[in-house]
Amino acid sequence: MCGIVGYKGKNEACDLLIDALRRLEYRGYDSAGIAIWHKGKIEIGRKKGKVNELGKDVCNKEIFQGSMGLAHTRWATHGTPSEKNAHPHKAGDVVVVHNGIVENYMDLKERLRQDGHKFLSDTDTEVIPHLIMSHINKGMGFVDAVRAALAELKGSYAIGAIREKERIMVAAKKESPLIVGIGLGEYFIASDVPAILNRTNKVIFLEDNDIAVFKDGQLILMNIDGESVDRKVHEIHWSGAMAEKGGYKHFMLKEIFEQPRAISETLIGRIKEEKGQIEFDELKLPDLNTITKIWMVACGTSYHACMIGKQMIEANLRIPVETDVASEFRYRDPIIDKNHILILVSQSGETADTIAAMKEGKKNGAYTLCICNVLGSTLARDCDGVIFTHAGPEIGVASTKAFTTQISIFYLLMLHMGRKLGIMSGDEVRDFIGEIKRIPHKIQAILEQSSAMEELARRYMGYKDFLYLGRGINYPTVLEGALKLKEISYIHAEAYAAGEMKHGPIALIDENLPIVIVSPRDHTYKKTCSNVEEVITRRGKTLLFTDDMDHEMASKVEAIFAVPETIYELEPILAIVPLQLLAYYIANLLGTDVDQPRNLAKSVTVE
Ligand code: M6R
Repeated sequence: MCGIVGYKGKNEACDLLIDALRRLEYRGYDSAGIAIWHKGKIEIGRKKGKVNELGKDVCNKEIFQGSMGLAHTRWATHGTPSEKNAHPHKAGDVVVVHNGIVENYMDLKERLRQDGHKFLSDTDTEVIPHLIMSHINKGMGFVDAVRAALAELKGSYAIGAIREKERIMVAAKKESPLIVGIGLGEYFIASDVPAILNRTNKVIFLEDNDIAVFKDGQLILMNIDGESVDRKVHEIHWSGAMAEKGGYKHFMLKEIFEQPRAISETLIGRIKEEKGQIEFDELKLPDLNTITKIWMVACGTSYHACMIGKQMIEANLRIPVETDVASEFRYRDPIIDKNHILILVSQSGETADTIAAMKEGKKNGAYTLCICNVLGSTLARDCDGVIFTHAGPEIGVASTKAFTTQISIFYLLMLHMGRKLGIMSGDEVRDFIGEIKRIPHKIQAILEQSSAMEELARRYMGYKDFLYLGRGINYPTVLEGALKLKEISYIHAEAYAAGEMKHGPIALIDENLPIVIVSPRDHTYKKTCSNVEEVITRRGKTLLFTDDMDHEMASKVEAIFAVPETIYELEPILAIVPLQLLAYYIANLLGTDVDQPRNLAKSVTVE
């Protein structure tokens, strides 16, 4: 994964780069490094640990003054997190930061070693500056040497490169994201837009095999063969403030509280109530009457959204839907054809497995549609169709507002398709629209009860294992609730379809196991109530999330939390909010690093 940034302009680069790097820490945070060019010399600083550790060490030192530089925050793939493996890496006078994986690095390293190159790290990246240097040694200019080196790499890369002898910055990408930011008399490179939003909102999304050269105050764009290419400058409507904590202790908490706004913005402009229709400007679906199957494929939280989308679409449109996690889908030779739609869901649009799944779908002739939050991301660019969630930047590693906006999009898509197929009337669609428009207020009501969730968190934070139970459309809700608890509190949590409890997990139940149950009054309600009884009989600690506070069950469970009533399709979008809060408050009370939990990264751009 990793985040890279680069700067070339007239201002001091060090503080700018450290600030931008902090905003990319969601991509990785086990070590960080910086390189600053000044009058023909490059100073490098590297540290194990977070960007803050590096920041404390560098910018106040005179040697780190200069107006061109590169920086990197790492999520280790090859080589343990350590100072020697942190980027930037240097060979001769060439310095490189890299995000991606050089798959043929062992062969390259061996060849370079035989030519006398000495390696200091265990990383795959270190071969890149050595390769560049080997071409320079043969008489090539810097830019040509970068092109020649890149042509030898197998795998993925987004790189920034500088050298001591010239005041030139070079950037390039293939299968890892990289943007160019255009400021006033200054240029940036970054792995993602939020890194530079406080400096500029004008960006170019580089495409695979693009090379950007920053020289003499100018930007030159070319491909790997050195031919000039033209790329559009996009104006980004996210503001710098959207990528700040805004007074909240953590991004995750801010993002949980932003959900009413994020959902409203995802709905805006798409609901045509007078026509009883949903319209997506950006979308041209194939003729739905020819579609025999829909696939929904994603990873993590986005996969849970797919499981909910499946239930909505199958139940209301009677089109068969198959869901799969992208890492399995890509290797199982799925039976796909041109009459299928493949929906890829991804907050970042950069998840490697989901991108591979898209390629698999395209290869087999399916129409690929992505539900994505990031403009200009690989999936948004390469799918046949795209629907954006307008959640705004999601920085917390634990996904929250991306999930509820993805559910909102599935709901709108169901209505859009229902009308196109003639299955739903304008009046029916208007009824459905009426309910989703009430969702932001209902979530607001839940958020206003957040202190009750904090109290609950205090009572249960000491337990080592949790079981989550839900049925039907709330099975994915509990999978997502358990994922939230696991990833930020490091407490083991397992989610089960409530009906499956008797087939194994019931053996775990005793007075040391809190059981979180999501059970609103729908057609599965009575069944789940029986499961609650079974848990109570075995002395399990029951935490019930329901819209039925008057049921006799309320007096039997250990804790109960009221979730506002809604229609079946939208139950998860409400029920997940208290589960997000529960996970957040437990993690916060335990003192974990909520926004950057150990071992994780926000965008999983490697397999
Ligand atoms: O950017 P994506 O939606 O493709 O990311 C998918 C998963 O990596 C992501 O949802 C992950 O599971 C989150 N950490 C969950 O909170």
